[in-house]
Amino acid sequence: MAYDYKTMFDVSGKHAIVTGGAQGLSRGMAEGLLENGCKVVLIDIQQEKLEAVCEEYRKMGYEAYGVCGNLADRAQIDTIFDKAMEILDGKLDILIPAAGVQRRHLPEEFPVEEWDLVLNINLNAVFLMIQKALRIMLKQPTGGKIITIGSMVTWFGGTTVPAYTASKGAVSQLTKSLAVDCAGRNININCICPGYMDTEMCANMTQARKDECTVRIPAGRWGTPDDLKGPVLFLASAASDYLNGATIPVDGGYLVK
Ligand SMILES: NC(=O)c1ccc[n+]([C@@H]2O[C@H](COP(=O)([O-])OP(=O)(O)OC[C@H]3O[C@@H](n4cnc5c(N)ncnc54)[C@H](O)[C@@H]3O)[C@@H](O)[C@H]2O)c1
Repeated sequence: MAYDYKTMFDVSGKHAIVTGGAQGLSRGMAEGLLENGCKVVLIDIQQEKLEAVCEEYRKMGYEAYGVCGNLADRAQIDTIFDKAMEILDGKLDILIPAAGVQRRHLPEEFPVEEWDLVLNINLNAVFLMIQKALRIMLKQPTGGKIITIGSMVTWFGGTTVPAYTASKGAVSQLTKSLAVDCAGRNININCICPGYMDTEMCANMTQARKDECTVRIPAGRWGTPDDLKGPVLFLASAASDYLNGATIPVDGGYLVK
């Protein structure tokens, strides 16, 4: 039988949660799902910005809803998730736990509170959101798709970013572990690793450092949130049904140079 591309890449009518959606890459990924007919709950700590973004999308006719909360606070995660599931009428097809933070200090000076903050948001909240999502997805005959977000420091060490590097290495390993346990149960979990992307996370890098990075990118430019839309559509749709635990760089070739 001919491969039905339209059906395989179709995510219309799917329900999704994207964390960190008030700006940057999460916003771009949420937008990609909205543009393809998903109903999306965006979760973020920046209330005003989140509300404005969702309002903007709803005016465009998209089903975008915000839940404000602090993913660093474990006690809030149940409430945040439950609120999102109420909006999504109990159905969850796609989870992208993408919210992340970066802190830069030399290792010997790295404040322990910042270590905890980075690990709480970038790793612990990712696992807790996935665990809650699995409890719903595993009961659905249609299963689910989970897309985690790594980084170039999933492979490299980076500099002055020990907590971030530890968290992103762990996210890709977590993805593999969960993928093994879930592959036969109708759940796909894969990890996108963005390269250097032009978002506020990198706003405090010096121009000299940015130029240094650009020289190493074979594509000759930094990535944008739009560059993640295609990979996300693939990983969120039936087209990726036989992809499990993959770590996929979306980096303009940075990693292979
Ligand atoms: N920008 C890059 O170059 C790059 C590269 C590789 C990976 N990433 C990853 O992509 C993801 C998104 O990064 P970005 O560049 O869009 O960053 P960003 O700083 O622009 O956006 C992060 C979002 O997460 C939200 N957030 C932060 N702490 C939160 C908390 N405690 N609770 C709820 N929401 C919180 C922020 O409010 C913000 O909207 C992160 O996981 C990041 O590590 C980014």
